[in-house]
Amino acid sequence: MPVKIMDTKQFHIRPPIDLISRFEATFRSYPDFVVRSPGRVDLIGTHTDYNEGWVLPAAINRYVWLAVKELPTPLITLYAESTGDWQPDTPQVVFRLTELEHKKTLGGDPLPEWATYAAGVAWSWQESGLATPGSTIMIKSDVPIGAGLSSSAAVEVAYAAAWAHITGWEIDRMELAQLCQKAENNYVGVPSGLMDQFACTFGKKGHVLLFDCRTHDWQPLAFPDTLAIIVADTGTRRTLINSHYEQRRAECEQAARIIQQYAPDVRALRDVTLELLAEHADEIPGPAYNRAQHIIAENERVLAAARALKAGEPAVLGTLMDESHISTRDLFEASGLALDAMWEASQGHPARLGGRGAGAGWAGCMVFLAEAEGAADFADYLSRRYNEATHQTPTIYALSTASGVQVFPSRGW
Ligand code: GLA
Repeated sequence: MPVKIMDTKQFHIRPPIDLISRFEATFRSYPDFVVRSPGRVDLIGTHTDYNEGWVLPAAINRYVWLAVKELPTPLITLYAESTGDWQPDTPQVVFRLTELEHKKTLGGDPLPEWATYAAGVAWSWQESGLATPGSTIMIKSDVPIGAGLSSSAAVEVAYAAAWAHITGWEIDRMELAQLCQKAENNYVGVPSGLMDQFACTFGKKGHVLLFDCRTHDWQPLAFPDTLAIIVADTGTRRTLINSHYEQRRAECEQAARIIQQYAPDVRALRDVTLELLAEHADEIPGPAYNRAQHIIAENERVLAAARALKAGEPAVLGTLMDESHISTRDLFEASGLALDAMWEASQGHPARLGGRGAGAGWAGCMVFLAEAEGAADFADYLSRRYNEATHQTPTIYALSTASGVQVFPSRGW
């Protein structure tokens, strides 16, 4: 499915007037179009994606916006607008599309990290034999960075949609998501799965997405408006580069490889049951065994969560999210002090249904499911109790599900 310009009238979205006027003031020309790409929350499915399992994310109404103008030269000029919690040291970067492997600016300096996402997506397009158009791009984002809400994938998918739009490629959306994942894995250097790029691309307002990370089959599941997604940002941050993420992935693969010696049909932990795992308890090192236990049970939880949502049983979904948090904390060891403190602080409110760490974990945000009716009170309760316990003030967001990446005209809003 090609990435198409949408008729803005059918969407009740606020035009990024400030971004467009900043673009005009900075580049003395008008952008050709704008792109809006959402962040995501993952209701359940911690680290299951790269184990070829299932996940249940939703795109959210926090966005990366790009204002884009095509350039006749093979150069990308990027300008990043500061956001509340992010002021780039080098807000303007120019790099050549012909020398992406050097990861250098036109002036020969190393690309700042925020610009490697643009260069990485351009690189992965070129690797697939697709032409990358020169362009001037101003970027603005209100997706908290490095907090577990997929700020990286939102940016990658935004650039990809912009270049697909300029060139008019008839690119399939799953291929677009996969090329962005390739950029993140092989250029930026984070061995992530496909969940984030999938959610930012395929998001559907009013829905969460059940995604099979092996077959790439997916289905949108209606998310009733009697439920609320409350995200609590602890303000702590981790970086996936040099984090334990790579180590966790290696531990999961190690467990799968050992079992594969005896059960050749096993390709990934997706194919392993808890019984089969237990048969090899003596051979699998302790940490890898615990990681595998988490992944196998987490896959079951994702499928059970989808069934609960379909059956109109949000309390069951909430309980599964809590179980996911406990397993992530104790077996996968991907929680952190701040996340655990937030989870504890959330306990005991009548509107609370369940909660778990967002994204890769270790730091950043917790995702809670609550009854919409008591959600505002729950948010206050959470903030107050977390502050009492840690003396820190969290940022609490009530988020809605949103559409995946879209391209809009820059005029006529
Ligand atoms: C990060 C990665 C995803 C996924 C999650 C953990 O968000 O980008 O691919 O592995 O962590 O579920």
